[in-house]
Amino acid sequence: MPAINWYPGHMAKTRRMLQENLKLIDVVVEILDARAPLASRNPDFDDLFSGKARVVLLNKSDLADSNATKRWISFFARRGVEAAGVSATGGAAKKIAVSFVEKAARPRVDAMKQKGVNKVVRCMIVGIPNVGKSTLINRIAGMNRAEVGDRPGVTRGKQWVKITPYLELMDTPGMLWPKLEDQELAKHLAFLGSIRDEIMDSEELALDLLALLQRMVPAQLAERYGKLSPDTPRAELLDAVCLSRGFLLRGGELDTERAARVALDEFRAGKLARITLELPEAEA
Ligand code: G4P
Repeated sequence: MPAINWYPGHMAKTRRMLQENLKLIDVVVEILDARAPLASRNPDFDDLFSGKARVVLLNKSDLADSNATKRWISFFARRGVEAAGVSATGGAAKKIAVSFVEKAARPRVDAMKQKGVNKVVRCMIVGIPNVGKSTLINRIAGMNRAEVGDRPGVTRGKQWVKITPYLELMDTPGMLWPKLEDQELAKHLAFLGSIRDEIMDSEELALDLLALLQRMVPAQLAERYGKLSPDTPRAELLDAVCLSRGFLLRGGELDTERAARVALDEFRAGKLARITLELPEAEA
């Protein structure tokens, strides 16, 4: 597969905007994809946010392996960062996010209280594309979200949404760029649909994915695509999906393009199994 690239032009601008916003922020909420916490972590994150109170939310945990999510939570805990598994599409996300942000802000809030000031904590949600930032902001802000700026032609400035009397959320997420230097990790993002599919050959990508799933969850794969077995050679994996689903073109040729699309879509929607593509290094 050709190398997966990123466009450095975006990076400098994104970085500048983030650094400006950072001055206003007490707590940075970093959203990672629970299925690929390494790949979905911006490589410069520690540098960018050093000195800020931080929490990590492993989002889409409904699609990830729950044991793996627990291991990632301990991984971050060992590095002094509070992390939690969440599902921005589910009901509990707001409660979890708010309690973690309040906990992270507590030392600062307590220090201010000693000076007689009731501090209002301001937080911002950051992450690479597709990790669920907007979904989570909508979930947390809910009805409190200001409508101004949603209309075309209205300039949208920075807006703060009041979550509690002492907690405000910036209503636009901080965009970070993904880590694409490591091709293995870049491929994980591609499997998850977090890199635009047009820049890749989707049949090659689907073959890579199916070969990986064949190693990770052979039984579930065979159950979903009946003609695919743990011994199916890589080159025949899409053919097996076609035969399982009857994806034939006129003339009886196998529609491997459709098979690739379906295999990727079904994996991304979590239809095969709850899968985490990366585990933390062996625990000490
Ligand atoms: P972003 O702002 O970080 O770019 O991500 P966004 O919120 O747009 O979410 C990207 C996709 O991930 C959306 O799906 C969203 O519904 C989905 N998503 C977000 N959080 C979760 C989660 O916790 N669990 C699951 N299963 N999915 C989640 P989409 O297909 O792009 O849009 P739509 O079909 O929901 O409209």
